[in-house]
Amino acid sequence: MDIDVAALSPRERYALLIASILPRPIAWVSTVNKAGVTNLAPFSFFTGITGNPMSLCFAPVNSRDGIVKDTLVNIRETGEFVVNVVTEDNVEKANLTSATYPYGVSEFEKAGLTPVPSAQVRPPRVKESPIHMECRVLQIVAVSDGALGGNLVIGQVVQFHADDPLLKDGAIPHERLKAVGRLEGAWYSKTREAFELVRPK
Ligand SMILES: Cc1cc2nc3c(=O)[nH]c(=O)nc-3n(C[C@H](O)[C@H](O)[C@H](O)COP(=O)(O)O)c2cc1C
Repeated sequence: MDIDVAALSPRERYALLIASILPRPIAWVSTVNKAGVTNLAPFSFFTGITGNPMSLCFAPVNSRDGIVKDTLVNIRETGEFVVNVVTEDNVEKANLTSATYPYGVSEFEKAGLTPVPSAQVRPPRVKESPIHMECRVLQIVAVSDGALGGNLVIGQVVQFHADDPLLKDGAIPHERLKAVGRLEGAWYSKTREAFELVRPK
């Protein structure tokens, strides 16, 4: 297969991206609107960027009808969000929060999740996740408008929380975190079949 992507529909291009870029870590992003109503949704177009400042990014993509995700609406309003990490223990609840609810309906309530106040930002953390990264927006890069267009949200992590049982000698071994990754379609992967490969000098 060798394709000039100009000949493909946006859906076909998206399908090739999710089948080729994997496993993808999942940012479970909590936000609030101006009125303080909470919102929660998973995003697997997500990665860390730098340690100086501590920064990360994720991509809310518009719907097929060109509707912007509530997460992005809230981040534009408040400039703040929390990335909670998705693990084997909470992935089913995280999936529940990906359902489309009317703006202003809280996925915390719908999925039976517990909001915990953050230290530095207004959006709450998700108690059922063992790692929380409180973020302030550095930049929102508009990639494209309309159907299946989207934005890249770049945030600075201002506060980092990890549940104590995760820690071993001050680090977080993947065997304790049990993070999951998103594959294509409805598939996920675990992080237990890991192997070590030391970088050459
Ligand atoms: C595991 C998983 C990963 C997802 N990743 C993304 C993503 O990277 N970008 C995106 O726009 N939607 C993604 N979605 C879909 C959103 O979670 C879904 O559209 C959600 O309803 C958005 O919520 P909001 O409108 O409250 O922000 C993902 C869904 C799941 C289950």
